[in-house]
Amino acid sequence: MYRDKTCGELRLADAGQEVRLAGWVQRIRKMGGMTFIDLRDRYGITQIVFNQEINADLCEAANGLGREYVVEITGKVEERTSKNKNIPTGEIEIIASAVKVLNKSDIPPFTIEDNTDGGDDLRMKYRYLDLRRPCVRKNLELRHRMAFEIRRYLDSKGFLEIETPILVKSTPEGARDFVVPSRMNPGEFYALPQSPQLFKQLLMVSGYDRYFQIAKCFRDEDLRADRQPEFTQVDCEMSFVEQEDVIQMFEGLVKHIFKYVKDIDFADPFPRMTWHDAMRLYGSDKPDIRFGMPFVELTDLVKGKGFAVMDDAELTVGIVANGCAAYTRKQIDQLTDFVKRPQVGAKGLVWVKVEADGSIKSSVGKFFDEEQLRGWASRMGAEAGDLMLIMSGEAMKTRKQLCELRLEMGNRLGLRDKDVFAPLWVVDFPLFEWDEETQRYYAMHHPFTSPNPEDIPLLHSDTGKVRATAYDIVVNGTELGGGSIRIHDSELQDTMFELLGFTPERAREQFGFLMDAFKYGAPPHGGLALGFDRFVSILAGLDTIRDVIAFPKNNSGRDVMNESPSQLEPGQLEELSLRLDLPEK
Ligand code: AMO
Repeated sequence: MYRDKTCGELRLADAGQEVRLAGWVQRIRKMGGMTFIDLRDRYGITQIVFNQEINADLCEAANGLGREYVVEITGKVEERTSKNKNIPTGEIEIIASAVKVLNKSDIPPFTIEDNTDGGDDLRMKYRYLDLRRPCVRKNLELRHRMAFEIRRYLDSKGFLEIETPILVKSTPEGARDFVVPSRMNPGEFYALPQSPQLFKQLLMVSGYDRYFQIAKCFRDEDLRADRQPEFTQVDCEMSFVEQEDVIQMFEGLVKHIFKYVKDIDFADPFPRMTWHDAMRLYGSDKPDIRFGMPFVELTDLVKGKGFAVMDDAELTVGIVANGCAAYTRKQIDQLTDFVKRPQVGAKGLVWVKVEADGSIKSSVGKFFDEEQLRGWASRMGAEAGDLMLIMSGEAMKTRKQLCELRLEMGNRLGLRDKDVFAPLWVVDFPLFEWDEETQRYYAMHHPFTSPNPEDIPLLHSDTGKVRATAYDIVVNGTELGGGSIRIHDSELQDTMFELLGFTPERAREQFGFLMDAFKYGAPPHGGLALGFDRFVSILAGLDTIRDVIAFPKNNSGRDVMNESPSQLEPGQLEELSLRLDLPEK
């Protein structure tokens, strides 16, 4: 037995006990004839004391230890004279009677502490050391507890957890697939699943009317703070349900987890907003509604006054930053620079101040008189002390740009408190999205999403206007999850494929198995998937999902620890009947 207690459990009541602990040396301090060691394991830190006068050899052995050595310590629990209120074991220490080195350690490349001196790249290269830091460990503990509680909750509602394959068929919709060559079938490839979507629908055909899976998904897309190439979904599907049933079920789950982790009660139903309103008022299908600052449109007020930027614009729209009329020239320039960054891509920013004394100042005084500007203020609800920030251009682009500015203002004004949670459902998404480049419609969610029954007559005549029976759950400006009611009628599915530009042959080739299955009594069904990494990171108050994944990839999709992706041996390629044709460097 290496230990009979952990480094996190001893308290004053244990004083007098003989104990044995094992763990890593966090810190060694020598003071006078004493040596103090902070011994760390998963559970906490315990102070170990060696006294030169009582046992010189033992103290010498302790002095020879290094950071991150793995040691076993035997000793007696005693009350500390100077207590450390910051840690749960801070009232006691162990007077060591024996120390055994279980393993040595090289000097770690960064300090294994919450406040580490290691940069991002270094910590990812030595992720196994980074994972020793309590702040990282805490995130993985939370992830575990949430997964456990989600399983418990869904089990209590009659859901079955069923695993679906990881080697699947490549399908053309959605993001890019990661593909895997098949040795046994030369020239053929599997894809890694972007989600278990088709399998869960097949499970509904099979009669498993409540399915879930904590499922690994893979998408070869550009990465961001809330996107990893492999990530985890809490994936669910239900039969004999309508949108309202699915929303109720998963609102229940999300509320349950908030209560369980944060002790937050959401007494009221989560608000709902149509996609159309979300875009109109916040310029985003995932609005952060922790704060207001909704968009107000000014197009009709600003046109025809000789200011080309606004005359030529499809949309002029603004927000009011309360109390910001006192912003300096420099502060306003910073905001203009912000919207001009390539990531935002705006050409400029118009500002109007309603000064504290009620007078008006603006960047467009040449084109608009005071009365006109007062008209804007009145439309926008700006009062003395407020700053109006206004952008013009093509409607959707301008909304997205103003959305970035609104979020930036939210940050600057401290309105995006990590301890405040504002969930909502965004509903009534459009079924299709038009792509200018390829001149065709794409499914906004996926091709199996059902149109809103009211809009079925518009499918051919006004395709772009058709609403989907699709819904997203959004928390604090992050899309936490999304789902839809599915098409279960083969004829409607055929129409959908046709509108998406599939020939009947191509639809068969890609989705024949699903179309066949639907001939054998597919029940009405629908579901949703929550991004599990995002769920954990929101509850942990983190900015990136990387921190809740034990071994994440960096922004280029690389694991810098094991240096993957990597090249294959020529023999492996040959076995797979593959030859490389790499672009010249
Ligand atoms: P969707 O594509 O909206 O729906 O994905 C569901 C949720 O998964 C999370 N997510 C991601 N998380 C981290 N990294 C990524 N690259 C990533 N991509 C998506 C998001 C998102 O809301 N099969 C459908 C669900 C359904 O219709 O039931 C689907 O996958 O939180």
